[in-house]
Amino acid sequence: MTTPRTVLVTGGNRGIGFAIAEEFVAQGHRVAVTARTGQGPEGTLTVVADVTDAASIDAAFTTIEAQLGPVEVVVANAGITKDGLLMRMTEDDFTSVVDTNLGGAFRVVKRASKGMLKARFGRIVLVSSVVGLYGGPGQANYAASKAGLVGFARSLTRELGARGITANVVAPGFVETDMTAVLPEAQQAEYKKSIPAGRYGTAAEIAKAIAWLAGDDAAYISGAVIPVDGGLGMGH
Ligand SMILES: NC(=O)c1ccc[n+]([C@@H]2O[C@H](COP(=O)([O-])OP(=O)(O)OC[C@H]3O[C@@H](n4cnc5c(N)ncnc54)[C@H](OP(=O)(O)O)[C@@H]3O)[C@@H](O)[C@H]2O)c1
Repeated sequence: MTTPRTVLVTGGNRGIGFAIAEEFVAQGHRVAVTARTGQGPEGTLTVVADVTDAASIDAAFTTIEAQLGPVEVVVANAGITKDGLLMRMTEDDFTSVVDTNLGGAFRVVKRASKGMLKARFGRIVLVSSVVGLYGGPGQANYAASKAGLVGFARSLTRELGARGITANVVAPGFVETDMTAVLPEAQQAEYKKSIPAGRYGTAAEIAKAIAWLAGDDAAYISGAVIPVDGGLGMGH
């Protein structure tokens, strides 16, 4: 049993974020999710926010603080892809992906750090990807944004580590969600061949690792990149 905390998961209305929120609820925490549309799982507080907009993040935190107390655990999960080969990648394809995946994490963590510094406690978990350190053809924008999270988490660790705040990165491999469902069948089969586990992961498997990093037992883990990828990214 871990200490019950106030948790915020961005992008908790579907996919991995939904599973992360479900796991935190199951472990007895007070859980809020941000969503642009839809709702988080049962037992969560859903607040509307867009991670590209600092004012909407600020408003979401104010609502959460009033209803559940200061955010002690923040999971920056919201993310997008806009894949394409470099020669065809537009300026907007690049900047919008970096602004959502990396800029979004910056905005959410910056806002969360206020309360964490005051409490001298905090758990920051950033959802990266195996692609961040492994690379992926057609994913220069996405990989750059996800690799950026590693430098971000490690700088946070150095800056905030002495105040009881940890910052870690979880790097999922391929997971069955809307994001991977759009990949052509042949490409999915090809990817599965290169995964030592021989299958995609489930969102619940990512959620378990994240909940553990946020729990009491992981107090001395910070600046780490934890792969949850069936062995796909070994050594990267
Ligand atoms: N699926 C995989 O194989 C895989 C592998 C490695 C890493 N990841 C990472 O895991 C995270 C979740 O992925 P997923 O597979 O669950 O994706 P998903 O099913 O496409 O869900 C993405 C989530 O992010 C939210 N989001 C996107 N842009 C946002 C914005 N500007 N403001 C607020 N929320 C925003 C979406 O909200 P809306 O519903 O409003 O669009 C949705 O809740 C992402 O960071 C992704 O890069 C996924």
